[in-house]
Amino acid sequence: MASSASRGGALDRVEAPMTLRGYLLCVFAAFGGILFGYDSGYINGVLGMNYFKQQFGGPSSDKDAFNGHLYKTWEKSLIVSILSAGTFFGALMAGSVADWVGRRSTIIAGCGIFSIGVILQVASSTVAVLVPGRLIAGFGIGFVSAVIILYMSEVAPKKFRGAIVAGYQFCITLGLLLASVVDNATKDRMDSSSYRIAMGIQWVFALILGTGLFLLPESPRWYVKKGRNGDAARALGTLRGQPYESQYVKDELNELVVNHEYEMRKGQAGWADCFRGGWTPSSNLRRVVLGMALQMMQQWTGVNFIFYYGSTFFKTVGLQNAFLISMTTTAVNVCSTPISFWTIERFGRRMLLIYGAVGMLVCEFIIAIVGTADEGSKAAGMCLIVFTCFYIFFFASTWGPAAWVVIGEIFPLPIRAKGVALSTASNWFWNFLIGFITPYMVDEDYGNMKAKVFFLWGATCTACVLFAYFLVPETKGLSLEQVDRMLEETTPRNSTKWVPHSMRGDMADISSLGSTEKAVPDAPAPVFRENHDA
Ligand code: BGC
Repeated sequence: MASSASRGGALDRVEAPMTLRGYLLCVFAAFGGILFGYDSGYINGVLGMNYFKQQFGGPSSDKDAFNGHLYKTWEKSLIVSILSAGTFFGALMAGSVADWVGRRSTIIAGCGIFSIGVILQVASSTVAVLVPGRLIAGFGIGFVSAVIILYMSEVAPKKFRGAIVAGYQFCITLGLLLASVVDNATKDRMDSSSYRIAMGIQWVFALILGTGLFLLPESPRWYVKKGRNGDAARALGTLRGQPYESQYVKDELNELVVNHEYEMRKGQAGWADCFRGGWTPSSNLRRVVLGMALQMMQQWTGVNFIFYYGSTFFKTVGLQNAFLISMTTTAVNVCSTPISFWTIERFGRRMLLIYGAVGMLVCEFIIAIVGTADEGSKAAGMCLIVFTCFYIFFFASTWGPAAWVVIGEIFPLPIRAKGVALSTASNWFWNFLIGFITPYMVDEDYGNMKAKVFFLWGATCTACVLFAYFLVPETKGLSLEQVDRMLEETTPRNSTKWVPHSMRGDMADISSLGSTEKAVPDAPAPVFRENHDA
């Protein structure tokens, strides 16, 4: 029986040797993760700034008021959550735009929209201007966050695709860390620079991403989708550091074209097609549900409870230096993510998701049990800090990156942009919903669950283990086209053993496919070595 480790060996087609430049090109888009992380993170710090309360708030006698000024509770909720509303709709719309104008152009457009939102935010001195600013910026981030996963998955060579997409998660963690560092550095300024610096810095990230992408090629798979095989060959050549007429490029292009022709026998795909095909393992509906559910479960691991409400929560259970603890968890998040660059390719996506959730649920139940049995004690406080760090370690090295990697891999080309968009929108939807209900579970005036809230996260992480075990297929080491075939031929639980055996159909007639540019000469079908012990 072939093991997952032998999967790479079974794919004996020679892949182009990757150059350093090739890696850098594939990994550059990951930079967009900084926008995601920074924007989710910076607003909490800004809301706590004294100058901000004075400038944006009205008269208030609340104990959190500064100089008798504070924004109202609904204004606070609106300022925080309007970003998720924007990202949700932005991500959905990006699914169509990315098929229409291309992946790269959609990300660049997202940076442009985001910049308009940032300008409004920086210019704002009232809630009435800040809120539309956050909404527009959110819309831009929705574009960026949905299409970056798509773009990176489509340009990366299969052997390193997991590691390269995990780079995106690493940038999210860096963005979160940068946000707390910047907030902390400007929070004591008593003029508008306190919040304007924190808001304005985001624009630099968008500028770097938007201009950098101009220098990168469009996704070769998008070109194939549009019948522009000459352009696809050139893009592949640039990405792999090979002349576009080289055999490496022809082989890879051939695989894309053959598979696309096969998929297109079912006809052009619109939004409705994302929900077709019944409940068979490879149906569009099943894949879309898998992608959306995976992102939902990632949010139900409870990770953002630590990042969004950590400081407040640590205080309610009697830990004084809450800010320091938050900085520590953010730093653990950054430092643990790179481990996944190696493990995701070595052990695969399934293993990471299954064992990562096991690790998280153990930490959560320990925190819940000790915190409830010995409430308010020093030992319970210590336990909370230590096991929160272990918990973040498990999230950052497994579910954080793997959830993004898998949604980039499971959709067939005709619905890939829309499938990734729906999955990303699901992430933002649950991010918002869980963020919205959490205060009601833990605030003293409402649920006041204290450490008991970790029983809930422990239970949801147990559901994550079952979800990953029964429903997530192993996509490691396969081209996106082979993933398609694997889903048709095996079940998630047996997917690790599946090895590619032959191409779909025969050789593609690449020169006859209506390229708008110079066509590439015919390429022979890639040679796969049958793995006889499979
Ligand atoms: C999640 C975010 C989370 C972040 C933490 C991402 O993968 O989608 O919701 O805040 O990881 O690093």
